[in-house]
Amino acid sequence: MKIPVFGLLSLLFLQTYGLSFQVTPIVIESKQLAIVLQVDGEGHVGIVHFGDKLQNQDEYGKIWSQSLHNDNNDGIQNNAYTPSGTWNLVEPALTILHADGSMATDLVYKSYRKIANDNKSIDYVVSLEDPVYKTKVDLHYLVYPDQDVIEQWAEISNLIESQITLQKYASANLYLTGTSYYLRHYHGIWAQEMKPEVEELTAGIKTLDSKLGTRANLFQPPSFILGIGAVPSEDEGQVLLANLEWTGNFKIDFEKDTYDNLRLIAGISPHASAYQLNKGENFKTPALVYAYSNHGIGLASRNLHHWARKYKVFDGMGTRLTLLNNWEATYFDFNEEKLKSLFSGAKKLGVDMFLLDDGWFANKYPRNSDHSGLGDWQENKKKLPNGIPFLVKEAEKAGVKFGIWVEPEMVNPKSELYEQHPDWVIRIEDRPEVYYRNQLVLDLSNPEVQDFVFGVMDTLFSKNPSLAFIKWDCNAVIFNAHSDYLESVGKPQSHLYVDYVNGWYKVLDRVREKYPKVPMMLCSGGGGRADYKALSYFTEFWLSDNTDPIERVFIQWENSQFFPSIVSDNHITDWSKLRLKFRTDVAMMGKMGYDIVVDHLSEDELKFSQQTLKKYDELKPLIWYGDQYRLMNPWENPLASISYVSPDQTKAIMFNYAVSNRFDWTYTLKPIQLKGLAPQKTYSVKEINIFPGSRAVIDEKQRYSGEFLMKVGINPQVSQNRSSVVLEINEIK
Ligand code: DGJ
Repeated sequence: MKIPVFGLLSLLFLQTYGLSFQVTPIVIESKQLAIVLQVDGEGHVGIVHFGDKLQNQDEYGKIWSQSLHNDNNDGIQNNAYTPSGTWNLVEPALTILHADGSMATDLVYKSYRKIANDNKSIDYVVSLEDPVYKTKVDLHYLVYPDQDVIEQWAEISNLIESQITLQKYASANLYLTGTSYYLRHYHGIWAQEMKPEVEELTAGIKTLDSKLGTRANLFQPPSFILGIGAVPSEDEGQVLLANLEWTGNFKIDFEKDTYDNLRLIAGISPHASAYQLNKGENFKTPALVYAYSNHGIGLASRNLHHWARKYKVFDGMGTRLTLLNNWEATYFDFNEEKLKSLFSGAKKLGVDMFLLDDGWFANKYPRNSDHSGLGDWQENKKKLPNGIPFLVKEAEKAGVKFGIWVEPEMVNPKSELYEQHPDWVIRIEDRPEVYYRNQLVLDLSNPEVQDFVFGVMDTLFSKNPSLAFIKWDCNAVIFNAHSDYLESVGKPQSHLYVDYVNGWYKVLDRVREKYPKVPMMLCSGGGGRADYKALSYFTEFWLSDNTDPIERVFIQWENSQFFPSIVSDNHITDWSKLRLKFRTDVAMMGKMGYDIVVDHLSEDELKFSQQTLKKYDELKPLIWYGDQYRLMNPWENPLASISYVSPDQTKAIMFNYAVSNRFDWTYTLKPIQLKGLAPQKTYSVKEINIFPGSRAVIDEKQRYSGEFLMKVGINPQVSQNRSSVVLEINEIK
């Protein structure tokens, strides 16, 4: 790294070149993390430290002198926002095509300010400027000290040129010094979301990305965990846990350099996305949010959960509705009578709400399968002659609220909407259309389409003011990325991917402004869209269509690293024939719902479900707002164990699930150690969710100290006959 210059001489040097000079380092601190920025003799801002913070702030200034990298180009790699076309030859954060055709940009330090936001967060803003073109870049590091979380983004302003084109415009550019890095990242496909992989990063660039446009996370989400110096583990070591707050194409690069240091550059994918800025315009990138921990993934997750509930997720500290959905129970095949019987099923079960899924709309091309009707949002007269208002009333009469499924960004070619507005569809007129689930995507860069999508929602709400819930689906990706609208207004096609996403956010802003209370589920054929920007509009998300409870343990486990349980919609379905108790216990670890025909339950199953829902009602604050501890990893053991502890440590709940069918009488020969309890408190341990006819094996009269439960543990006695065991732990005074 380049050595920062000090003293009068250097001041003179910098002033000669018209550069402002920041002698002392800029220190961005949260609870455990310090990011230390230092301006070098040429005015370039470098990251000289990213890691554990120091007790004595004065010592940050000594960091640079400990590095002996002093040949000419060493310093460039640690740049805090690496430009391109001038001195930099590694992966840039920013590439600009200037008005005169030059692709050269440099960024030097201008100023630094710290803005405190009501004791919640501190925004550290570092301003940089190109000395030649005056392009300005503000780097924001928004620190939430109590949650130990940072959101980082950049704001790029075109101050004087007639027009510039941003060819790459990352959100965050980090630099970590060390020797080895291990990346835990995820891949998948429909019904197999969030499959993890861990690898040691080697020299060169490892990229996580998506070019799908919509449903952008289908193959890979913008979430990752970086282990610094060791494979990320639950309770030990330095880790960085991150998510890009962007519901579209992304690119996250990890470049290990010659000195074994790591450059991390994350943001919107530059793929086919060059973005023009006219004079006076600016571009705010989405934020990369991260939690740093020097005590492993568990602590980073808990911190991110706190932050998410408090500041990011829509109504993150609010409540949620349990529900009965009809998707797997009926698919497209229903009518008023069938639905009415499901309403009474929902009531009998004891859930708060009935959720009507796909298939309720379209007349010329009825939505009787996924081949037609999408886009025509009028009730199907044959299935629902009395419309949605009638269903809402009938549901309410039966004693449950009513929610509804929509997918308003999409269209089937076999629909009236497509016939009337082919220009609203993302397609290329003289090329064959390419479909995903027989449908195409509407062009949300077009304000008229935004109005249409908002109108679908607005009409539903104005006709049904007591509508209690929305499931917002998104099943297709973008092929043939072309917008008639952008062409008509003389904007480049390369704006489409970005303007689509921002168009969607604009619609959601309007929905939220007018309907600030209604809970909404973010669905994308499963978790194809979950990121923290989307979740700022939604109360929860559908993790996967795969509701096999064993698969679900793994999917929920992985998602629990990034997202709090209150946003995790877990439904009990008939996808698998595993015991209802097992399916229920797995769903309970989040926001519970059902997708079954209640009348098909046996008497015992119904009784069990009713009792469990009552218990869930009592325990949901603990599950939703408690601190989560992952106790036993299902990838390494035949069972998974996870717990939630109340902030005052008086209550906890422990979920234990067998995840293997291999022959084994007892999965837990040994106790499992709990975490997060108070060592000096005394607790009782009680088995809950007991199926009628079974009995508890754990002795609820026994008393344990928190110390015992954490150092020795408790044996939930999971076996083939007890494949899931839920334990309620209460302080005894
Ligand atoms: C995909 C969703 O993930 C399902 O839950 C269901 O709503 C279908 N779409 C309906 O088409």
